[in-house]
Amino acid sequence: MTGQRKIVITAALPYANGAIHLGHMVEHCMLDFWVRFQRARGHECVAICADDTHGTPIMLNAKKQGITPEALVAASKVEHEKVFADFGISYPHYGSTHSPENQRIANRIFKALEEKGHVETRLLKQAYCETDQMFLPDRFIKGTCPRCASVDQYGDGCEVCGAVYAAADLKSPHCAICGRPPVERDSEHVFVKLNDFKDFLKAWVPEHTGPEIAKKLNEWLDGDLQSWCISRDAPYFGFEIPGHKDKYFYVWFDAPVGYLSTLSEWAKSQGKTFEHYWNDPEAERYHLIGKDIVYHHALFWPSMLKAAGLETPNEIMVHGMLQVNGAKMSKSRGTFILASTFNKHLDPTYLRYYLACKLSGGIDDIDFNFDDFVSRVNSDLIGKITNVASRGAQMLQKIGGQMGALSPEGLQLVKVAQALSQEIASHYERRDFAKAMLLIRTIADEANKYFDKYEPWKLVKVDEAATIEILTGILNLFRIMTIYLKPVLPTYASKVEALFQEDPYIWSSAQQVVEYKKLAPFEHLLKRIEPAQIEKIVAETKEILAMQNPTPEETPTISGEAALGLAPTITIDDFQKIDLRVVKIIDAREVEGASKLLQLTLDLGHGVTKQVFSGIKSTYKPSDLIGKHTVMVANLAPRKMKFGLSEGMVLASGDGERLAVLYPDVHAVAGQRIS
Ligand code: MSP
Ligand code: ZN
Repeated sequence: MTGQRKIVITAALPYANGAIHLGHMVEHCMLDFWVRFQRARGHECVAICADDTHGTPIMLNAKKQGITPEALVAASKVEHEKVFADFGISYPHYGSTHSPENQRIANRIFKALEEKGHVETRLLKQAYCETDQMFLPDRFIKGTCPRCASVDQYGDGCEVCGAVYAAADLKSPHCAICGRPPVERDSEHVFVKLNDFKDFLKAWVPEHTGPEIAKKLNEWLDGDLQSWCISRDAPYFGFEIPGHKDKYFYVWFDAPVGYLSTLSEWAKSQGKTFEHYWNDPEAERYHLIGKDIVYHHALFWPSMLKAAGLETPNEIMVHGMLQVNGAKMSKSRGTFILASTFNKHLDPTYLRYYLACKLSGGIDDIDFNFDDFVSRVNSDLIGKITNVASRGAQMLQKIGGQMGALSPEGLQLVKVAQALSQEIASHYERRDFAKAMLLIRTIADEANKYFDKYEPWKLVKVDEAATIEILTGILNLFRIMTIYLKPVLPTYASKVEALFQEDPYIWSSAQQVVEYKKLAPFEHLLKRIEPAQIEKIVAETKEILAMQNPTPEETPTISGEAALGLAPTITIDDFQKIDLRVVKIIDAREVEGASKLLQLTLDLGHGVTKQVFSGIKSTYKPSDLIGKHTVMVANLAPRKMKFGLSEGMVLASGDGERLAVLYPDVHAVAGQRIS
């Protein structure tokens, strides 16, 4: 081995406004395999991650929950850290972009850009919602696609036909928060003149990204690079830009700075500065990211670092996206699986092993196929690898539990396994974990062959000494396999260390031979997966969706969403599909744990009643409503909410704060259809 390397590696910072799902786990498992491998080889390897906390969605999400954005990001940090720990992924320090250190370094980089003349300001015309009193990001403008005329599409692109367009091109645009049409307003914005960095990037990109990515980026680098707008208007949850009152850094400006600030906080705990790691020419710096965020990491970020006189990363390591059963993860199919849901039903070790088998260091998408997953775990990890140990160790326990010496044949097999060390290591180094797993399985195959050849279960009856010799060979092979697997399966490896009563394995432990060793009592290593456990995960994933989407808080009534005149035209037939009925409110009550909901019991006449949850609590007391008539959508598909089944909707109007329930004229009778 050459000298000790000094490595910093980061995973992309997950957004604080969502739970960690299996897609994220691809990245964090991959990083963890690699980091553990480097440490096992004796290198210093600092793994950095943090929550990405700023931006409009987080601000609005907090508002909707009636909490501050600070409280929201604090809660999600706790949750994210717990999930990572549950999967055996531990960052020495998990930071947050909403930290004083992050603000300090973001300001420093911005000032450097400004001082060197890379910043300009310009007036921009943008969509503004007068009701919500804010500029609307593209994702908060909805309307009709200019290409295929699908309604209810986002301002940045159409999910139906795939068209990409500017929000200004949407037909009948409306604010996604309140439903009203936005107006255009001028506002001054701050830009980084990315084109200043074009020559630098042209040289930098091919040297610091893989060939596929470099090719893609070159398409951009061929033309002029547009200036990058890094400011957002208040209200915005983020950092105010120094010298630019009421302008905030766009979330993508301070997000990558989170790598440095988190490193800095950790370095401080070690009595050092982040420059000690980041700016040491001997140190290696890597960012591991998904291919959806290459642009930010390979164009914006190196330019920012360069301007600030900081080192740029040695490599942007890019991975593909996780799919489930050959398709994009989907909430309705139950394949948008949260890491916490997985962990509830299955040992994270299975996921780690399976992902290792699937990851080969490229940018192709990764398919998590349920059948393949069950069979790889059950037949390879349990059937091939673990069984060698459990058969060997359990048999040895029965005849004294002490290993003997290796036979010449056993020793030969051990040597072959030991000789794989370099090759397996080079696969780990290149993040081709799939090839590493493949080679490790060849050792298991040899061990199983050896076992079956001598049939120790028969041999033991006639020759105990010969049996011990065979089992010693088997157990040595298993031990070596475990050492090679340890970066992927650390919990598993620690059980094996306990079995052999040894210190924690490092990579070179594989070069030792273990003889005459007394084994600790054998503890079960892993169970088989039952397909029913997967069914439970899918069912629970669907259930989570039913509870969240749409939450009653999001769509309390049909009030704001489709403010009159804005919704696309419908035909009379469309209208006839909606069964609007006069109903009598015969009961109204508060719902425990719901801040905005009332539970209404509605009489539709002819002895029919329906239960509806309506977000009108801020305006009405239950006693205001009981006995009154109103109008409901009676044929709406029932919707399962956290608090129970909602069997329709009551019509109301309002601005999201104060609501007005509609009352029919005094002649109306419960059950009458409105036409
Ligand atoms: N907050 C930004 C990153 C800022 S880094 C300075 C972000 N967050 S994210 O939560 O959307 O994604 C975090 C990482 O998870 C990204 O690298 C992204 O590519 C990865 N993945 C998100 N979904 C994924 C899959 N379905 N599959 C694989 N990786 C996925 O982007
Ligand atoms: Zn609005």
